[in-house]
Amino acid sequence: MNFMDEIVALCKRRGFIYPGSDIYGGLANTWDYGPYGVQLKKNILDDWWKTFIEDRDDMMGLDSGILMNPKVWEASGHLGNFSDPLMDCKSCKNRVRADHLIEKSTGKLADGMSNEELFEAIIKENIKCPYCGKSEWTKPRDFQMMFKTYQGVLEDTASEIYLRPETAQGIFVNFKNILDSTRARIPFGVGQYGKSFRNEITPGNFIFRTREFEQLEIEYFVHPDEVDEKFDEWIESFKIWFHSLGVSASKLRLRWHSKEELSHYSSKTVDFEYEYPFGWGELMGIAHRGDYDLSRHMQFSSVKMQYKDPVTNEAYIPHTVEPALGLTRTLLIVLLEAYEQEDLGDGSSRTVLHLPAKLAPIQVAVFPLQKKLNDKGAKELYGQLKSHFRAEYDDSGAIGKRYRRQDEIGTPFCITFDFDSIEDESVTVRCRDTMEQERVKVEDLIAYLNKSLS
Ligand code: GAP
Repeated sequence: MNFMDEIVALCKRRGFIYPGSDIYGGLANTWDYGPYGVQLKKNILDDWWKTFIEDRDDMMGLDSGILMNPKVWEASGHLGNFSDPLMDCKSCKNRVRADHLIEKSTGKLADGMSNEELFEAIIKENIKCPYCGKSEWTKPRDFQMMFKTYQGVLEDTASEIYLRPETAQGIFVNFKNILDSTRARIPFGVGQYGKSFRNEITPGNFIFRTREFEQLEIEYFVHPDEVDEKFDEWIESFKIWFHSLGVSASKLRLRWHSKEELSHYSSKTVDFEYEYPFGWGELMGIAHRGDYDLSRHMQFSSVKMQYKDPVTNEAYIPHTVEPALGLTRTLLIVLLEAYEQEDLGDGSSRTVLHLPAKLAPIQVAVFPLQKKLNDKGAKELYGQLKSHFRAEYDDSGAIGKRYRRQDEIGTPFCITFDFDSIEDESVTVRCRDTMEQERVKVEDLIAYLNKSLS
């Protein structure tokens, strides 16, 4: 089994992530988050929210709708620009992305090439269909990546709407509402998390690229003269945050977008890339969106998007620095970093997730040595711990097996309540990472765990 397959298998076995619609044979590239997966995802989200919104005086949150007026997507440029160049193999009828095919076949970047140029390159290089080996291509055509649906009972063009492809636009269209209803002063930012949808042509690599995913996005509004300084500050803030999630520096790198590669709204973008088992790929992007979005919404809605500085009286359209991140993609790297198949040196091995304590779905597991200890203090202890930590009680099977199960879900500490615990009011605390065990007085346990989990 390769590394990624091991992660996928663990996720299903231990209730992190299941294939979507599993009992019906699945729906390609859809995934459901099980009890431990949804908790892990929430813990990452909460940490992002606390770090970048709650703990900062210059940030606030928003929760805007997935369904928006279609004019939003006209103004944002998504209706015109958010498409992939696709072409069909006339022989086997498979559809492929022209630029990706060129990049795979020649190793050269094809970003920014027109459909005409892509077609010329494919003919010149005699690039063959990866499915049937023939080279009988239709010309590339643009394929809109936004999911379309209908609002109301009529399925006509007047009732067409889209599922949002990014959470960002909800922030831009609420910019004026936020200015009018809060004490926001530039520079300030608005953060939003939530589902986004893209009809990706090449989803895959587990939860790396899916058609339904979750984003954590920030739009940081600044005076045009301040953009570069704030842009660099956001890079540093995210480096620190990724480190706190257990991501090793050697697996992260920054990659600046070339001019040809920049999105339609961006004048400068840097990606944080991660070294996945399938190679380096994007984890997040930080983009300088300039005044593109606010200006376009001002133009399309006729609502003024200007900010008037209360001290200098200068009126201007703020520029935006956008740190945009996938929550589900972040969860993938957290799992990849935490996973270890550890050789125990005695011919046996264990699977363990070394999750940071702040992210672990369960922080403390409580085991009575035998079921008959449930009512002799073990359950009571569990009740006390549960009000302080994410805790789980497990009284079935051999203790060794219970440890292995908690190792696989990344629980930092297991506590065993045994027959001596009734007399000496102490329990055995076992550490996930070192596997060392220590006897701790029950009265000291909460302080001990608080210290060890921080
Ligand atoms: N508002 C800007 C924006 O949406 P993006 O680079 O297209 O920029 C931001 O998306 C982040 O969202 C990406 O860096 C990635 O982490 C995540 N993301 C984008 N498409 C995704 C997909 N199909 N599946 C999972 N995550 C995705």
